[in-house]
Amino acid sequence: MIWYPYVQMKKMKNPYKVIDAKGVYIHTPEKKMIDSISSWWSSIHGYSNEEINEAAKKQIDKFSHVMLGGLTHDPAQNLADKLREVLPGDLDYVFYSDSGSVAVEVSLKMAIQYFNNKGMEEKKEIVALKEAYHGDTFKAMAIGDDPDYHKAFPEKEGIHHIAVDIKELEEVFEKRHDKIAAFIVEPLLQGAAGMKMYDVKFLEEARVLCDQYDVIFIFDEVATGFGRTGNMFVSDLVKPDIIVLGKALTGGYVGHAATVASRKIYDGFYSDDPEHALMHGPTFMGNALACAISLKSLEIFIREDYMAKIEKIERILNEELKDLKSEHIKDVRIMGACACIEVYDNKVFEGFSEFAYENGIWNRPFLNFMYTMPPYIIKEEELIRITDTFKKWFAQK
Ligand SMILES: Cc1ncc(COP(=O)(O)O)c(C=O)c1O
Repeated sequence: MIWYPYVQMKKMKNPYKVIDAKGVYIHTPEKKMIDSISSWWSSIHGYSNEEINEAAKKQIDKFSHVMLGGLTHDPAQNLADKLREVLPGDLDYVFYSDSGSVAVEVSLKMAIQYFNNKGMEEKKEIVALKEAYHGDTFKAMAIGDDPDYHKAFPEKEGIHHIAVDIKELEEVFEKRHDKIAAFIVEPLLQGAAGMKMYDVKFLEEARVLCDQYDVIFIFDEVATGFGRTGNMFVSDLVKPDIIVLGKALTGGYVGHAATVASRKIYDGFYSDDPEHALMHGPTFMGNALACAISLKSLEIFIREDYMAKIEKIERILNEELKDLKSEHIKDVRIMGACACIEVYDNKVFEGFSEFAYENGIWNRPFLNFMYTMPPYIIKEEELIRITDTFKKWFAQK
């Protein structure tokens, strides 16, 4: 049987069975519902995009996968070239892996080994944000700060969590910079924390401090990358030393991720010493099918001016939700193609998913947060169906 994610199996309601998915719609045998959360924020083109399907079929007919150790191929090379073109500055060195969590692990390994290769073995601690979420593997859990997810795995040795407060960051750097390898953030938007949003000024100032204290700045853009915050990458505003990409990299088609390093980081590994090599290599890294899909996804993103679509989504979300009031609502936040309604008590969400389903919307609030992160291809009337469903729910509460 299937062991489902993030759920007490004993109490789990039967999941809805999906028999088809096209455009923004997920089909069950009874219903056709708008996916308001893009399958965990990944399916930016909606489902079954004809062009991406074609690109996938074409690649499958050649080959789907070969190992990247000792072999290479056009899809992996072309995607690396394309990422180099769309990412800012010298974020040019693309290390592929199979999921966001693993790509985060790779970024931390890069940062720690960067200093190790320089003979600074003691620089191996990591600073992260309070309420951070960076994935479910062990080091990703350690740098995360969310007991709601990882209570059974409390190990935090060598990890420092700070608020989004430049003074706190400066204090920890001042005290421990000779031990600290990296500062990692979900830039501008902390997703699993409840779509917490903060100002770019913090990132700008943190960039200066990272340079001053010789700390590697990592942007985990697994969730924010490819437009979600209204910037194609937050890294376009403030340049990190390493960016982590996942989720929408493949348009939500298949699991694949990339950790992209700047020249400085790459040079820290480039030497005559075999021990300076990055010792990592997931079996499915650079998967040809995933790379071909990602290439087509990026081509569509740019050609169809998805940034303009995201701007429109942000405008509609603001018009429809900004002034939503209810005694249950603590806050409404909107950034790019993301809106979140925070409530005081999550009991108010009981029955909401079923209500949304009846209204033809797929949505799943978590903790105290109801949110939408729709596919970017969504039409105005479809987006309003989502926001109307939120409004109807609070109106009857
Ligand atoms: C910011 C961030 N980093 C990493 C991850 C982990 O990605 P994956 O689920 O592909 O391992 C997530 C997943 O939600 C995320 O939001």
